Amino acid sequence: KKVVNQALVIFGASGDLTYRKLIPAVFDLYMNESLPKGFAVLGVSRSSFSDSAFRQKMKKGIQEFAHYKDAKPVKIDDFLSKVFYISIDTQKGEEYAHVKAKLAELESTFQLDHNYIFYLSTPPSLYSLIPKYLYGQGLTLQHSGFRRIVIEKPFGHDLESAQKLNQQLLDFFEEDQIYRIDHYLGKETVQNLMVTRFGNGIYEPLWNRRYIQHVEITAAESIGVEDRGGYYDHAGALRDMIQNHLLQVVSLVAMEPPSKISADDIRYEKMKVFRALRPFTKLDLKNNVIRGQYTEATVRGKQLKGYREEKDVKKTSRTETYVAMKFFIDNWRWEGVPFYLRTGKRLPTRVSEIVIHFKPSPTRLFKQTEGDKGENLLILRIHPDEGILLKTGMKVPGSGYEMKSVNMDFHYSELNDHYIPGAYERLLTDCMAGDNTLYMQGVAVEETWKFVQPILDYWEEDKDAPLHGYPAGSWGPDCADDLIDGKENIWRYPCKNLAEDGV
Ligand code: BG6
Repeated sequence: KKVVNQALVIFGASGDLTYRKLIPAVFDLYMNESLPKGFAVLGVSRSSFSDSAFRQKMKKGIQEFAHYKDAKPVKIDDFLSKVFYISIDTQKGEEYAHVKAKLAELESTFQLDHNYIFYLSTPPSLYSLIPKYLYGQGLTLQHSGFRRIVIEKPFGHDLESAQKLNQQLLDFFEEDQIYRIDHYLGKETVQNLMVTRFGNGIYEPLWNRRYIQHVEITAAESIGVEDRGGYYDHAGALRDMIQNHLLQVVSLVAMEPPSKISADDIRYEKMKVFRALRPFTKLDLKNNVIRGQYTEATVRGKQLKGYREEKDVKKTSRTETYVAMKFFIDNWRWEGVPFYLRTGKRLPTRVSEIVIHFKPSPTRLFKQTEGDKGENLLILRIHPDEGILLKTGMKVPGSGYEMKSVNMDFHYSELNDHYIPGAYERLLTDCMAGDNTLYMQGVAVEETWKFVQPILDYWEEDKDAPLHGYPAGSWGPDCADDLIDGKENIWRYPCKNLAEDGV
């Protein structure tokens, strides 16, 4: 991909995301020689830092979070000599003149060719203000170079605010200048979904209602809300994980093959999936969506707080830290195939995976080893230990025809001659090259909000809508098992199977 000279302007530069993800990712690009010759980073925030204090802080972030964290300090310093900082009051329009002036100054030292990316890593309340003030300084118009804007999640708080934000952005930027980021799409294994499905002849013929019984997607985390209680208590798991990351994954699992690998074709196919999501009825909301909140518990001798005891969380909070749901996609391929999604904090382990449950063979000719369900599963593991696992039945050696499940297992780590870029590294490169395939279109974000909005309304309006407590370190409310159709079917509990799966 061709990356031309440019500057990356990060708003919210004193925040955590810049420190942990953005600057380490840009540093990794530098180490891989993927940055253009003319390049600079300009950090902008309210806090006051000198260039050298800011660089000092970023150095620490690099040494903790970058892939090349052990790089020689002179290398890090050389990279940081391209990193600058200015402090402005981002609420005040006139202060953006400083951004313009600083960019002009940097133009004379580094050859930036007037190409700028504005990365908004700020509280969402600034998402509409910053574009307006950049526009006020003439910084959004593309007559001299390109201008792109990256918007972090959360993109909106509900359908209405997402629609409004889209309109506001379009007042100052064209749609193709707007990059709505979802870091899940930057994950290698998430991109591999399309390659696995459409690059091989063997999966796609089976990838439909005739052979798939159900699809299960889990994104479990063992951490709690940590120090993000203030944000999380207003968001909850549905907004934090499902509306964005997991529905994006659903679209890649369920989409039709694009006619070519281009941003328009891929995003068009994904959009068709969002539009085919069956809207929840009142009954579905009651029966097919479960929410939970973790309560205090002792796990392996460690006392874990309940959610309501976490910092910056209301003592009476009804915010969900766990959601499980069942839904359908109303189209030719998926008619009648349930999709199950589950995500939560303070679950027993950190794992994200997609499990394709194939239908069993029409007759059961062979006896299954005791305790073995003999399912045919294709597990696409997003993390940890990225890879693909196929569970099939094989004959137990010896007399008779007893059958047992075995694993065919591929680990990405086996491709150790390949460098695997981090999600932010990949997404930043794409934006720098002007490729928005892995970014979300405004209309697609609105469709995903349309899908989750009835759930938000139901929880908001119906005071009897249950919120199940679950002990920290458990797999969430027990009733989530009853969501899954079929007496024999439950969620896959990867933790129990860790050894068996070779994770
Ligand atoms: C973020 C959420 O978008 O994704 C976090 O706000 C969550 O709450 C994180 O922990 C999960 O991302 P990953 O890459 O660790 O799976």
